Amino acid sequence: MTMVERIGKFEDMAPGSARQVIIGPYRIAVVRIDDALYAIDDRCSHQDISLAEGEVLCHEKQLECWKHGSAFSLETGLPQSFPAIKPVSVYEVCVVDGEIEVRIP
Ligand code: FES
Repeated sequence: MTMVERIGKFEDMAPGSARQVIIGPYRIAVVRIDDALYAIDDRCSHQDISLAEGEVLCHEKQLECWKHGSAFSLETGLPQSFPAIKPVSVYEVCVVDGEIEVRIP
């Protein structure tokens, strides 16, 4: 069953920022770049580190883990650099009535 969660207003999220949201058992990093939103697992696949605490690489559309520097594609979840080698999950995210909505299949 798909879980749908509204996590706050789109206008309250600054461009180039990331935030952690907890939805049931899921810890998700929601990222805004310009007017686009992305949602990936908020758990680096190398170690249990919050990716939302890392740096948003706007031009590359990646989120960089602060611990050892692996950057994950916000579009595919694939790591673009070592030491992480496994992808993280990517989730659907959109804006409905001005609210950010995350969908977990
Ligand atoms: S914990 Fe993220 S790259 Fe090592």
